[in-house]
Amino acid sequence: MIGDDPALRSAYRLCRDRTRRQDPAEYALIQLVPVALRPACWALWAAANTIDDLADDRTASAGERAARVRRWIDALERELTTGTSPDPVRRALVDTAARWRLDLSGLHHAMTEVAVDAHGRRFADWSGWRAWGRGNLLPWFEQVRDLFDRAGVPVALRLDRQESYERFLDGMRLADILTDLSADLAQGDLLLPAEALDRCPGAEEDLTALRWSPAVAGLVAHLTDLGRQWVTQPSLTRGMHPGPATVLAAMADLLLAQLDAVDAAGPALLRARPRPALLTTARLLAPARARAALAWSLTPVPAPPARRPAPHLPAVHPRPLRRPAFRSPPPHPSGERPPRIPVERMPTHVAVIMDGNGRWAQRHGLPRHEGHRAGAAAVRDVVHGALEIGLRHLTLYAFSTENWKRDPEETGAILDLLRQETRAYPFEDLDVRMRWHGRADNLPQDLVDLLDMRERSTRDRTGLTVTTCVNYGGRDEIARTAAALARRARSGRLDPDLIGEQDFAEHLPRPDMPDVDLLWRTGNEQRTSNFLPWQAAYAELHFTPDHWPDVDRRDLWRAITEYTHRQRRHGAAGPAPHEPATAPREGA
Ligand code: IPE
Ligand code: IPE
Ligand code: MG
Repeated sequence: MIGDDPALRSAYRLCRDRTRRQDPAEYALIQLVPVALRPACWALWAAANTIDDLADDRTASAGERAARVRRWIDALERELTTGTSPDPVRRALVDTAARWRLDLSGLHHAMTEVAVDAHGRRFADWSGWRAWGRGNLLPWFEQVRDLFDRAGVPVALRLDRQESYERFLDGMRLADILTDLSADLAQGDLLLPAEALDRCPGAEEDLTALRWSPAVAGLVAHLTDLGRQWVTQPSLTRGMHPGPATVLAAMADLLLAQLDAVDAAGPALLRARPRPALLTTARLLAPARARAALAWSLTPVPAPPARRPAPHLPAVHPRPLRRPAFRSPPPHPSGERPPRIPVERMPTHVAVIMDGNGRWAQRHGLPRHEGHRAGAAAVRDVVHGALEIGLRHLTLYAFSTENWKRDPEETGAILDLLRQETRAYPFEDLDVRMRWHGRADNLPQDLVDLLDMRERSTRDRTGLTVTTCVNYGGRDEIARTAAALARRARSGRLDPDLIGEQDFAEHLPRPDMPDVDLLWRTGNEQRTSNFLPWQAAYAELHFTPDHWPDVDRRDLWRAITEYTHRQRRHGAAGPAPHEPATAPREGA
């Protein structure tokens, strides 16, 4: 099915054999996917593991290992344009990308992070650990999802299941780390967050001394327990095509068996990788094989598309690793498409006060921080909707200077969530430029660094600009602007008697932010709570009753549609009753 090219056939064979040898469980899972998709899965698996092995090879120094990973990525980057590679794993991967039109640019970040891993990692808390794990696992899984999409079996994941999906991957990562504990410790690595280690005093020292102790046993029991909770996500496969659903369910079963093996290993865990008994995995896999065979017989997947359509036509080249051809945002699960808005009526800048997270949580009997977490899913959907409708600027009020009045537990949870979302960066392969706006001085430095980093890494993007307001207060912004003007006047470069609105606007911390056309607040409150008083001075106001976590992109579309019927006058006289409304002022 790969064609007659012997080099390519042997490249795929090598990927297959490597998967089977190094990770029999993964190999068994790939056997559950249709024959046509297996070579692509082997190639993806082998590529991910090749760069991990390069980063782990302790015969070289950390710097050399990182350099090898970078060289491998650079070579792949070049070869994606030439269409082949002298290295068998990359040859198979380049072929897979070309054949299935996979856009590998989503992997770039995950792969370059492996070069950073070569220098060792330390995690203060679970959220940092999670962001790291998700950052390097999710993009590979996304490639597999794309592969299924291209094969005509979309792995539909409803947006509200995204969190269970990511939790599941956390569980997978934790099971892997526990399984590889002996190998990692032998190399001086301990890929667990200090937050978890500190729960069992003494465990870290005992582990690094390869000493089995009650503290280590307690830690392992706690972690396997967490892992079991994370991989148990029954809602994940609900409503999914039975093929991928069977694969995911079998994956969960194998992970649970693996965690049991970790638990049962006792002191041996520090000496070797535990493995579940062959009989146990055989018992799990037999029914999965039968279910998968049935599922795929109902939806046959055709052979992979041919690579070269005709000798005189150019070869099909995969997408490059960098310079991403941005993806379109995933559609709303309802299938609804954005309304068509005449360009002259489209607002340039929509600013949103995302209110009601706390009440949403209360209504569901959950702690407030769960409301904020659910709110993050709504943000993702609204950003997708803003891209779909072609909005240029979306500004989101995430944390106000007044929100410090809340319980530190809540403010901590909100800032944590901002960290997580900024690290995980769900908009990586969309044309979204991220910026942030607010006071840096009393925010945790690591969060400021992350927000700045994300701003730098997306600064060349030209699609939608999403500005997240963190520790933002309108009066604070005005006071800082006044201070900037005063400094300028004191230096003699500005005459205080001539200061006008334009001078003020030019001294704002974000002088290039356009005026707000539409200010939308959810959560059934009708006030603007210190949000963008300068920029929103002439904004159209839109208040809706829903709590923010209940909102999705369709609410944004409705808000914009309603805006198109507003008559903006900016102080001018309105049309006489029989005259048609004038178009709103263009731009801002
Ligand atoms: C908005 O939701 C989010 C932030 C202010 C960070 P709230 O947390 O204000 O939710 P309610 O208003 O208490 O329901
Ligand atoms: C406004 O919401 C701030 C954010 C959405 C970040 P609040 O919930 O803090 O506003 P008030 O206090 O009800 O006005
Ligand atoms: Mg509120």
